[in-house]
Amino acid sequence: MSSLPSLPEVPGAEPNRAVLDSFKIAIAKRIADALPPLTIDKVYAGVDYGKKGVDFTVALPRFRLPGKVDELAKAVIDQFQADDYIESVVHDKAFLHFTCRTSSLVRAVLTQVHTLTNQEPSVYGTNTTGQGKKVIIEYSSPNIAKSFHVGHLRSTIIGAFLTNLYRASGWEVIAMNYLGDWGTQFGLIAVGFEKYGSQEELQKDAIKHLYDVYVKVNKDAEADPQVKVDAAAWFKRMEDGDEDALKNWRVWRELSVKKYEEEYARLNVHFDNYTGESKVGKKWQDIALQRLDELGLISDVDGAKLVDLEKWKLGKAVLRKKDGTSIYLTRDIGGAIERYEQYKFDKMIYVVSSQQDLHLGQFFKVLRLMEFPWADKLEHVNYGLVLGMSTRKGTAVFLDQIIREAASVMHEQMRRNEEKYASIEDPEYTSLEVGLTGIKIQDMAAKRINNYTFSWDRMTSFEGDTGPYLQYAHVRLTSLTRKNPELLPLPPPTEIATDTITEPAAREIVFLLGTYPDVVKTALRTHEPSGVVTYLFRLSHAISSAWETVVVKGEADVDKARARMWLYVCARDVLGAAMRLLSIRPLERM
Ligand code: ARG
Repeated sequence: MSSLPSLPEVPGAEPNRAVLDSFKIAIAKRIADALPPLTIDKVYAGVDYGKKGVDFTVALPRFRLPGKVDELAKAVIDQFQADDYIESVVHDKAFLHFTCRTSSLVRAVLTQVHTLTNQEPSVYGTNTTGQGKKVIIEYSSPNIAKSFHVGHLRSTIIGAFLTNLYRASGWEVIAMNYLGDWGTQFGLIAVGFEKYGSQEELQKDAIKHLYDVYVKVNKDAEADPQVKVDAAAWFKRMEDGDEDALKNWRVWRELSVKKYEEEYARLNVHFDNYTGESKVGKKWQDIALQRLDELGLISDVDGAKLVDLEKWKLGKAVLRKKDGTSIYLTRDIGGAIERYEQYKFDKMIYVVSSQQDLHLGQFFKVLRLMEFPWADKLEHVNYGLVLGMSTRKGTAVFLDQIIREAASVMHEQMRRNEEKYASIEDPEYTSLEVGLTGIKIQDMAAKRINNYTFSWDRMTSFEGDTGPYLQYAHVRLTSLTRKNPELLPLPPPTEIATDTITEPAAREIVFLLGTYPDVVKTALRTHEPSGVVTYLFRLSHAISSAWETVVVKGEADVDKARARMWLYVCARDVLGAAMRLLSIRPLERM
């Protein structure tokens, strides 16, 4: 088959990156031609993916044309002529269902997947909607000396996904970690460190040691109110820039960041910028306070400054303490302004738990009240709680505990199948990667606003819609080329006998591969990783269904065997791309 007939251009369609767009245009053209004054552009927006067994569906009522729907449908059907794009149309109530010509579909989709995944880096699924635009994505943002809880883990996982997603859409992304490295608790730790601190322990594991000191000094503070007074005085010195009071703190921060960087790397997560509450300057915090005062929104309670946002149902909030020290809210206000000054972003996303909806609402509101023209470029991507995540020894408080537990639980699970276990080359690495995949998939499987109950059993299972199942699907596809070397190398795309790919199960895979660029676009619109997870499972189920019938090994016709292998290689590449988008490292062996 030669190349497909040319089609008109439609705004928003990118056939060079998403070849199914051509099929949508072909459908839009037919309908527009049959139903003037409809335009192709208008119809194009109404060409949807069909339900099971249908490629594309158009709901006629959405165009609000005069006349009965049956008559409109009839006009389209009467004029319909099959061509290389579209094979048939069926009228069903208010809908028209279209079927693409299988031979064109297979060739067009696989050729595109092949061409675009073989670029370095692979660009299949990417788009250019963000070209020339800059986004700051702030995520993870744990507190030094406090525990890294599952809320931080969710922020890390979702934030890493958004970072990949925006990059795949052409945005310049600044991945930012806003550490909780400032506040009265550092006065407390400083006081505690004098009593319980150990340089040795600090060097060994700063995160753990600081946490231990914090827990101990908190106990002391409960018993003796003087401890809190000393802590507040210490923090005041820090805010005033007293170098003596800051010396230890600097070391704590640096060592904690170093340790975090290692752990993030294991999670396949990277930041361009480690900032933190400590880095926010005083200037804008002062200006904010002054401006709100002019607006009549500030009241003085015992020397503390309070902003009243009741009018917007956002409550009242302290902006400055009695002793003049800043707080979380004020630092976020000042921080946002500084970030705009520095980066002139087109968008800034905060990936923070829905438990902080009020806090984010408050500081977004303050920035709007201050009339910053960019204030509406801030977006809060929130998420629900994770219930019941603890290690077998008790509650997890550190990220490395969670990572180690994931690896060891997975390792045990793999050991249960002795024969298979023996064939695993590097069980340590494999169980870590598969374990992390399990955590990530479980975390991203449902709408992010939902709470979910964490389960090690579900996470480590190879059955059902789990991370291990996905890794297994990828490994199995990868092994296909290893196990059939006699079919390699595959000929160039134009010489592959794609016409031999006719089985419904194979076609299903092809069509799903074609939809991937739209999966990415939808995720960008919704900020939901769950759509990508759902896609991954649909694709791996489709592959699984084809595996026994659309075989490579045992297919006597070599041309056919090669065409099938090509299909599976393309499927592997798209599966891998979608996994990477979720920050998962696809495994080649297991
Ligand atoms: N460190 C905060 C916490 O653990 C999260 C920071 C969220 N980001 C922000 N800009 N407030 O609760």
